[in-house]
Amino acid sequence: MKFAALSFLLLLGINAQSTNDTSKASLTWDQAYKKANELVKQMSLEQKVGIMTGNGLFGGPCVGNTAKVDGLFPSLCLQDGPMGVRGTTGVTAGVAGINAAASFDKKAIRQRGEYLGEEFRGKGANVYLGPDVNLVRSPYAGRNFETFGEDPFLSGVAGVETILGVQSKGVIAQVKHVIANEQETWRMTYSSNVGDKALNEVYLWPFEEAINADVGSIMCSYNKVNGTYACENEYILNTIVKGRLSFKGFITSDWLATHSTAKSANNGLDVEMPGPTHYGSQLLKAVKDGQVTQEKINDMALRIVSTWYKLGQDTGYPTVNMNAVNKLKDQKVNVQGDHKQYVRSLGAASTVLLKNQDHVLPLQPKKIKSIAVIGTDADNSLILGNKLCVNVPCLTGTVAMGGGSGSADYPYLVTPLEGIRNRAGKNITINHGAIDIDLIGARHKAKMSDVAIVFSNVFTMEAFDRPSINLNRNGDNLIKTVADANQNTIVVIHSPSAVLMPWIDHPNVKAVVWAGYPGQETGNSLADVLFGDVNPSGRLPYTIAKNKQDYPVQVSLIKQQLDYTEGVFVGYRYFDENNIAPLFEFGFGLSYTNFTYSNLQATTSKDGSTTLVNASVKVMNSGDVDGAEIVQAYIGFPKSAGEPPKVLRGFEKVLVQRSSSALVHFGFGLRELRVWDVSKNDWTLTRGTYTLYIGASSRDIRQSTTFSL
Ligand SMILES: *[C@@H]1O[C@H](CO)[C@@H](O)[C@H](O)[C@H]1NC(C)=O
Ligand SMILES: *[C@@H]1O[C@H](CO)[C@@H](O)[C@H](O)[C@H]1NC(C)=O
Ligand SMILES: *[C@@H]1O[C@H](CO)[C@@H](O)[C@H](O)[C@H]1NC(C)=O
Ligand SMILES: *[C@@H]1O[C@H](CO)[C@@H](O)[C@H](O)[C@H]1NC(C)=O
Ligand SMILES: *[C@@H]1O[C@H](CO)[C@@H](O)[C@H](O)[C@H]1NC(C)=O
Repeated sequence: MKFAALSFLLLLGINAQSTNDTSKASLTWDQAYKKANELVKQMSLEQKVGIMTGNGLFGGPCVGNTAKVDGLFPSLCLQDGPMGVRGTTGVTAGVAGINAAASFDKKAIRQRGEYLGEEFRGKGANVYLGPDVNLVRSPYAGRNFETFGEDPFLSGVAGVETILGVQSKGVIAQVKHVIANEQETWRMTYSSNVGDKALNEVYLWPFEEAINADVGSIMCSYNKVNGTYACENEYILNTIVKGRLSFKGFITSDWLATHSTAKSANNGLDVEMPGPTHYGSQLLKAVKDGQVTQEKINDMALRIVSTWYKLGQDTGYPTVNMNAVNKLKDQKVNVQGDHKQYVRSLGAASTVLLKNQDHVLPLQPKKIKSIAVIGTDADNSLILGNKLCVNVPCLTGTVAMGGGSGSADYPYLVTPLEGIRNRAGKNITINHGAIDIDLIGARHKAKMSDVAIVFSNVFTMEAFDRPSINLNRNGDNLIKTVADANQNTIVVIHSPSAVLMPWIDHPNVKAVVWAGYPGQETGNSLADVLFGDVNPSGRLPYTIAKNKQDYPVQVSLIKQQLDYTEGVFVGYRYFDENNIAPLFEFGFGLSYTNFTYSNLQATTSKDGSTTLVNASVKVMNSGDVDGAEIVQAYIGFPKSAGEPPKVLRGFEKVLVQRSSSALVHFGFGLRELRVWDVSKNDWTLTRGTYTLYIGASSRDIRQSTTFSL
């Protein structure tokens, strides 16, 4: 680990303790390579090729399965996906990546990684296909819910916490997808054309963090990068990932993203999935024809075997007991443990309160006799039942997860209606309106209630982008109808990222809550926030614009050349640079209390090659209730650095009791302060005056100071 990154971890006091560490202390890469060397020596060429080739789309119990080498090496089970073990029972269906990011809570994200690791291990899966650290470049992109949002720094921190959590259980994390895979339409063929500054500072950033945190594996993406498929891209895989970033583990192709044999192997692809199209016998032939050397094959095999040793999978690793292909053969092992508690608390911690007027929230049961709960998104699906809503766009029913490889089977689902009903108690009447197109019924229910909670959503899944960024299922009309009828209207949105909010200024829309895709405990997490058992502290990990035209990137249904012309100006960086006022900015979220900031101090030191800046700020809870604040640190670089006005470079979640205060520390090393110099093809420290902005969002800056480097 680099010095800057190390000191950053120390400064922030990241908790390296795991709550339930079942794995042995992991080996260093050198130790693991030494062991792997002994084992690979005993393998024939055919056996080596076998461990780098998938057995086919339905070639085993997992979504990816490699050939085993009798007595030497097992068939590796690679399994989706980022939020739970996909395609099996007895697992936890937790919060999506976008919610994990919205919590801005490193400890909670680590715990999520730990329980995911326990569940993958418990099922015998060797490789967790996650986290997804691609970025929200456009609100239309279909996989935004799997990601950690639009900011590379946030994505890097969330990715690292997830990886450390998962790998602490001896499971190999496979961070994905390298690289520039930010839309679904034409994903098998489009070319992302990215300049070097944006590539290094934005899109590669979270992958570089993952590599520095010793991630075991990386998945290359479907798309081309500057005209060459990512999985056979010499510059991306060999020059950058395995070269400059010194990645020691193995690179796997996304499923069907391999396009060649010798070219892929020579350019850095270690494992073909699901195989065996270009590797297997084709790779053997390429070796025999002299197109791929034995040394190359040895390196590929060593990468796979050493990662397995490094994670301690050589002793006591459970054998696969699930079957995602043939459910009759699934042994139905229950690995849920007590993980639902983490889902519930992270669901609440990731709920973002966007608007709250006249203290309509938190709800006060003593003052309320009736609550209208409107919208099919509040309840179970009327048509299919939510169990069937996992991989199809549901016509009705609440949305608590996205579809595709980012899904898992619900063990159960606490709907928002149940969560609210349970918490409200018997003395409050719940008037439920369950049909989105029934505006007359909705108006009636809203009119007869003290408070109206109206639900709407957007379902998205892998392989499809959103056709629009409006709410689905008549949502805007439903919300307006309810607001016209009830002056205490609370809007709850379940969506993968931004939706347009044409009703936001309606005087009766008193509160708006974004709940993301919170998973199986959705109703409980929501009720915890609505009734004030949890004081909201979730923050937007993406920008909500006033108009769709305000976003720099739409999804193109026609173009196959995706020019990343906005460069480093992604998300809030674009809105700031172009002085476009968003509806709700990155990092925004309200609380039931108020925090005041004071006493920002920054110290700089220059000791040889490393320059570090330390800062501290006092945060006081000046409201009536205890709460957590997400204190955010943005850096304003000297003009010549070519950076956006503000760039996130630190955040801390701090619990502060009412009338108390906390001192929050930040540290910035070279990693946080250098920018990519295109002409030098390297990171560089710009001389000049920097501004440190400390705030409650990217636009709510409470304290600032300058320093010179
Ligand atoms: C990729 O293309 C972009 C713009 O089209 C260019 O700036 C960049 O240097 C290219 N990168 C490589 C590695 O060719
Ligand atoms: C810790 O791991 C053990 C063994 O896998 C499991 O039985 C237990 O439920 C786990 N505890 C928690 C808190 O997850
Ligand atoms: C319900 O109302 C009754 C009568 O006013 C009261 O005694 C009881 O405590 C209330 N229950 C709850 C859960 O608030
Ligand atoms: C926060 O402070 C503002 C301004 O003093 C006040 O109007 C508001 O009611 C306070 N909010 C809370 C939740 O205490
Ligand atoms: C910042 O704090 C760390 C840890 O307390 C210390 O080692 C380092 O010297 C400090 N740097 C500056 C610039 O104050």
